[in-house]
Amino acid sequence: MIHLSNDTGDLFEQSFGFAQKQVRKLVEKHPLFYPLYTQNGKWKHEGPAWTHWCDGFLPGMMWIFQKHAPADSPETKFWLEQAIRYTKPLEERKHDHDVHDLGFLFLSTYYRWYRLSKDPAHREVLIEAGRTLALRFKEKGQYLRSFVSDNSLFIDIMMNVGIIFYAARETGDRRLRDVALRHSLTTRRVLVRGDGSTAHEGIFDIDTGEFLRQTTHQGYRGDSCWSRGLAWSLYGFTTCYEYSRDPHFLETAQGCADYYITHCPSDGVPPWDFNAPAENRTLLDTSAAAIAAAGLLRLCRLAPDSMKGHLYWSTAVQIMRSLCEKHLAKSDPKWEGILKGGVYHVHKGLGVDESVMWGEYFFCEALERVLW
Ligand code: GLY
Repeated sequence: MIHLSNDTGDLFEQSFGFAQKQVRKLVEKHPLFYPLYTQNGKWKHEGPAWTHWCDGFLPGMMWIFQKHAPADSPETKFWLEQAIRYTKPLEERKHDHDVHDLGFLFLSTYYRWYRLSKDPAHREVLIEAGRTLALRFKEKGQYLRSFVSDNSLFIDIMMNVGIIFYAARETGDRRLRDVALRHSLTTRRVLVRGDGSTAHEGIFDIDTGEFLRQTTHQGYRGDSCWSRGLAWSLYGFTTCYEYSRDPHFLETAQGCADYYITHCPSDGVPPWDFNAPAENRTLLDTSAAAIAAAGLLRLCRLAPDSMKGHLYWSTAVQIMRSLCEKHLAKSDPKWEGILKGGVYHVHKGLGVDESVMWGEYFFCEALERVLW
């Protein structure tokens, strides 16, 4: 990959500094509070969660900050203490049977902690979480069911299946690996379309396992391409390829990446749904852009064609430049988040054109990948 120009490197470093400032303020203002999305730029409010999937992202940023603070500095000490303080309460979620989000919760936290500590107890938490997630597998239909119901498969689960691959690799449990592979193959078959676009949800007949139709909760409609779902798929199939080395998954990740690149405006920040009608396509989702950038920065190293690898890298840099130049909350001192213009759930009116915690996390992860 080519190097960043000096001004781009400076822009990214300043944005990383701004992200730390915002997270520090949140920790000081609302200790041990794990928000999902802002309301009018404020983290603390009574808006519903819909589902509890986000608690790993705030400590996840703290793990990133501690890693890149100057060695033995007060910053390193501060971020390490906070990261541990916010990560420990998540341990009990390793037995959470109600969500399909254990990868989101643990890969951002215990995985980063274990890489630093090498403490076998942290590895055990990850393995247990992987085993719990695998219990969602439906033999009839061959998928991990979503939190919504037995007959439902979400594209988002591709971001979580990595923890089952991890648990399988660490324990040598072939059954776990098989579950992760079969789920990924089913998702590829029923939710990723021939042009690389994705559907949010698939519905099955639970008695026969027959796949019935594509539908959505957060996208515009069942046959549209919800941009965050596409970004989850791009990133998730990249991870799936890293673990499995099955070239079909690399092909799928590249199909999603190519769809993203060819359908996005030139600044790389997509509308909330690629097929939303023109009058509401001006509503963007910066969180989808941050996830796509982080995913492209992984995928660029795997693409067999070096021209493609370069395209993925330069697109990720372009996305991050756009986010840093146009969407940071820097010029709005009252805004508590890092990145403006994220969207959680348009139809429920939750977190629309706000900061969203996963957008903050993947923005920091992408900065980490591009800077170090
Ligand atoms: N539930 C995951 C998402 O909103 O993307």
